Amino acid sequence: MNEPIKKRLIKKHGQLPKWAEDFSIESSTDNNVSRRDFIRFLGLVSFGLFMGTAGVFVRSLFEQAQAPSMEDKIAGLNEIAVGESRSFMIPGKREPGIMVRLGDDRYVAYGQKCTHLQCPVLWSKEENKLVCPCHNGAFAVEDGHVLYGPPERPLPQLELAVKHDGIYFVGVKSGNLV
Ligand code: FES
Repeated sequence: MNEPIKKRLIKKHGQLPKWAEDFSIESSTDNNVSRRDFIRFLGLVSFGLFMGTAGVFVRSLFEQAQAPSMEDKIAGLNEIAVGESRSFMIPGKREPGIMVRLGDDRYVAYGQKCTHLQCPVLWSKEENKLVCPCHNGAFAVEDGHVLYGPPERPLPQLELAVKHDGIYFVGVKSGNLV
């Protein structure tokens, strides 16, 4: 605050008013202060957005590094012969799954509950399909789509990872577990 204004205020009030100390900004620089505050505000918002994005990115990297864990292991390599299957509990889901080994490095897995009325589907090596004995339903082993019978929805397909020491459950690839 410049001197003439200060003197005028002191003359009028007997002393410099408290508000003049708190807001000791000359009116000629009001716009500069506002602009400065605005830029500071933008900087804080940008910093907040950057930190939020960085947090999400770091977390996704951490989760990728963590998965899959040993608890997600379904079978060791070569535990299941080509053309054979294994039923298992889907890690973290409390739902049964069924895995079929179709080739040396080719495995498929599905939720084992039939999408009609939840009977467990079984692998039929002879017929090369997953069959539901309850009401004579059947699903394609390649992708789980309905071949015939009362089911209207495909089996939920599970995503697997073939690693050096075994086959791991990664997640649900398509559909919903019944
Ligand atoms: S429960 Fe599978 S066909 Fe009915």
